[in-house]
Amino acid sequence: MTLEQIRQSASFVHDRACFDPEIGIILGTGLGGVVDHIEIKASIDYSDIPNFPVSTVEGHHGRLIFGLLGGRRVVAMQGRFHYYEGYTPRQVVFPVRVMKLLGIRYLFVSNASGGVNSAFRTGDLMVITDHINLIPNPLVGPNIDELGPRFPDMNDAYDPTLIKLAGDTAARLGIKLQYGCYVGGTGPTFETQKEYGYFKAIGGDTVGMSTTPEVIAARHMQIPVFGMSVITNVGLSGEKSTHEEVQREGARAAVDMTRLFVEMIKALDTNP
Ligand code: HPA
Repeated sequence: MTLEQIRQSASFVHDRACFDPEIGIILGTGLGGVVDHIEIKASIDYSDIPNFPVSTVEGHHGRLIFGLLGGRRVVAMQGRFHYYEGYTPRQVVFPVRVMKLLGIRYLFVSNASGGVNSAFRTGDLMVITDHINLIPNPLVGPNIDELGPRFPDMNDAYDPTLIKLAGDTAARLGIKLQYGCYVGGTGPTFETQKEYGYFKAIGGDTVGMSTTPEVIAARHMQIPVFGMSVITNVGLSGEKSTHEEVQREGARAAVDMTRLFVEMIKALDTNP
């Protein structure tokens, strides 16, 4: 995936959508409900975009949606690319790089995850304050200097101002938030009990199969990131986890996540 390919995709998308997004949004499994609140101006199937990988997993639609959310111009990825599907880490982050060239100033990411913090319950919303990336790093390989530095800093990968805004907004809306560290694993297996215990022991609060690659790519390009993890199952309960359960619980919790995203996005300063 070269800079030329990223530019080619971005210019195709820009010509087709005729839209300049200010904010990028990536929606996790079962969390696509945010899209229902977007006043849609254009949508483009991934399969139509040159160089774009195509999403395969059940529950992911695979298109870019352009429109207004809370009065702001957004581009939402309905369906993301996972490492476990067989895409290379560089393919996984390709759309984030395209969104950067489209002009986004912020990235909002969401995912479904298994809670390993014993205070967490199914349906909880966790603001991601940090991550532990266990998926092969998408920046391995020749650096694209035009996008960012060879050795990008990952302190404050999740923007402190956006975390504060989330807390203030949630308090106003009466939404309860958890805060913590997301562990990005490769999947596609859900974890054994010992693996859940291991992720807890190394400082994780939730574990999922996405997000960290996209956040790394966004931070490489200096885009401020807000991340939200929806706890769809409690890892250390010993109960079996299924994709259907993750989708169902995700959809339920997505109602509050959507309200929070909309109100936060309304409050963003996109002309800093
Ligand atoms: N583990 C990994 N990924 C997940 C889980 C889990 O328990 N739940 C939702 N995504």
